[in-house]
Amino acid sequence: MTNTHPVPGTETRDFPVTRPDSCPFDPDAAYARLRADEPVSLVRCPAGMDAWLVSRYQDIRSVLSDPRLSSRAAGSNHMLPSYDGRDPLPGFMIQLDGEEHTRLRRLMMREFTVRRVEALRPHIQKITDERVDAMLAGTSADLVRDFALPIPSRVICEMLGVPYADHLAFQRDSEVLMGFEADEATRDAAARRLEDYLGELVERRLVEPRDDMLSRLISRADETGRPLTVQELATLGVLTLAAGHESTASMIALSVAVLFRNPERMAALRAAPASIETAVEELLRYLSVIQFGLLRYATEDLTVGGTEVKAGEWLVAALPSGNRDESVFPGPDTVDLERRAPTHLAFGFGPHQCIGQQLARVEMQVALATLLRRLPGLRPARPLVQADFKLNDIVHGLRSMPVVW
Ligand code: HEM
Repeated sequence: MTNTHPVPGTETRDFPVTRPDSCPFDPDAAYARLRADEPVSLVRCPAGMDAWLVSRYQDIRSVLSDPRLSSRAAGSNHMLPSYDGRDPLPGFMIQLDGEEHTRLRRLMMREFTVRRVEALRPHIQKITDERVDAMLAGTSADLVRDFALPIPSRVICEMLGVPYADHLAFQRDSEVLMGFEADEATRDAAARRLEDYLGELVERRLVEPRDDMLSRLISRADETGRPLTVQELATLGVLTLAAGHESTASMIALSVAVLFRNPERMAALRAAPASIETAVEELLRYLSVIQFGLLRYATEDLTVGGTEVKAGEWLVAALPSGNRDESVFPGPDTVDLERRAPTHLAFGFGPHQCIGQQLARVEMQVALATLLRRLPGLRPARPLVQADFKLNDIVHGLRSMPVVW
């Protein structure tokens, strides 16, 4: 599946990847120009293929909900050093289409309903309070290592039935997979270790089921009565484990960094904790952590935003650009924590829209509200410009952020 249809006479730009020095939360300045002048524009991706970069909010929603556009072997693979077009493993629902995808999604949905996630809120609060207690026992901490990462990581481990004691190993491997720097052999080894690890857990739950998601998925057959295979269960487990902690951890850490840069907004949010839900939605919009957007593949000829796209061509739905579309979000580059706006695109759109979004919301709401309440003097230990941002990973985030209070 390589793009063999470069459009004659059309200029191909490099994929926009450069965040401005002035603000580490703003996407590449090229997006604003593209939205105005060339909303569907041909770019050369790091993986080597040319793709139509779709930069406006409405066009992105059309792309992500169009059944003629495939997710197969797509995801963020346009950012890899090279694209190998390998088919996804069975169970890797984020890169499957149609009935193959719906079957898995239906089986998974029941774990992530609003009701089920709300029932977890008191437990998420307890985990968060324990992290703050541990921080308060000292005088400084790394907000990523000691707070932002352990909260979603423990929650998803407990949901799935994965021992949290193993977190260092699987966090290291999922970080390799979320980055684009490791060579193919290193990525393959990390993926295999995660698959083997989850595969062993599945085998154990087959013999001895517990009250956890893996055990429930084992006992749940699809509408045709077909149960999930061990391979599907292991792959679903890897996907949920990785997706379940990386993006939320990044959102928590980056949100705190945004509040540090906007102390008056931080004070206003501390004074009005009931507005945390609105604030979290705005932070999701403003930060758009799936920073290089979502790749799709045209299975038929179609038109996107007035541009003809041929079967066999690639498209990228640029989420960070859609979330800064001035026709939908006035003053898009300002983080306005009281903004009431149409739904943002941070969780995607259409059939693959994030299945864990409600869980992510509750984790962010609890984590941020608790930090503001219990650590009123929280501030960065070093100037933010020195912070170690993840500029070359699927998910924008921070590697560490030393803080004092
Ligand atoms: C702030 C945190 C999060 C963000 C920004 C985020 C973002 C996204 C996006 C953009 C997609 C769509 C991908 C596509 O269309 O190709 C997605 C899908 C998915 N996410 Fe999340 N996610 C977050 C948290 C979570 C959590 C907490 C979980 C699980 C516990 C999770 C599990 C998944 C899964 C399994 C899919 C695939 C759904 C499907 O293919 O039907 N995510 N996420």
